[in-house]
Amino acid sequence: MQPMLNIAVRAARSAGDLIVRSADNVGRLRINQKSKNDFASEIDQMAEREIINIIKAAYPEHGILAEESGEHKGNDFIWVIDPLDGTTNFLHGFPQYAVSIALMHKGKIEVGVVYDPLRDELFTAKRGGGAMLNSRRIRVTAQTGLMGALIGTGFPFKNPQHLDAYLGMFRALSADSAGIRRAGAAALDLAYVAAGRLDGFWEIGLHEWDMAAGILLIKEAGGVVTDFSFNDKYMGSGNVIAANPRMHQTMYQAIEPHVTAALK
Ligand code: IPD
Ligand code: CA
Ligand code: CA
Repeated sequence: MQPMLNIAVRAARSAGDLIVRSADNVGRLRINQKSKNDFASEIDQMAEREIINIIKAAYPEHGILAEESGEHKGNDFIWVIDPLDGTTNFLHGFPQYAVSIALMHKGKIEVGVVYDPLRDELFTAKRGGGAMLNSRRIRVTAQTGLMGALIGTGFPFKNPQHLDAYLGMFRALSADSAGIRRAGAAALDLAYVAAGRLDGFWEIGLHEWDMAAGILLIKEAGGVVTDFSFNDKYMGSGNVIAANPRMHQTMYQAIEPHVTAALK
């Protein structure tokens, strides 16, 4: 898998450079509103084209699932791409966004890369090979309880029907914790759990491209990821709880009473 990881890194860095070069010109970008509160700029599209060109040049027979252009049919290898995770931040000049690229084979995530181009932080993982930040090994924290924990999340702003359930979860988790962070780029939130910067993370309704790379990072950093039923069906539902094993248990117990039938 190392050659494929190398290609993912090359593609993520190249897209990240392109994003950073455009960051000063966001006022002049063409912005397309995909749905309520869901925007894509021409940079999202350019970055995605750049990533796909690099992958296709190396692996023309592989399939692709990319946020802006959707599914490109291929063999059993599927590259799952979010060219710019945190577009709303990017469009506001709020410096928290990343490129996320994962490679899946027959349902297993084999390679994951999350690249923060502003801090030049490269998070990488290979299945069975551990998780790294700029070539240094990373691990999830040893936190076990809510007291003193720093927890990341995302608000269900595209799924307001889940707001009440979400607020119940929020109340349960925030009561004792040291703080809750909503930074606005799920791929980076997950990478931060892997790197021990956050003790845990939960969100409702993510997409595969938001999660795939970050999930492998967390697993390879010693963490656990489940959906709200304690199963591994998160790629389908987009509902995620992620943390080290003991902290995951703590978070699951706080979240579970607020899980509605629609979120199971
Ligand atoms: C979004 C970000 C955000 C999360 C949203 C995602 P985008 O991705 O990851 O943190 O809360 O659900 O859609 O649209 O900026 O790629
Ligand atoms: Ca995203
Ligand atoms: Ca995106």
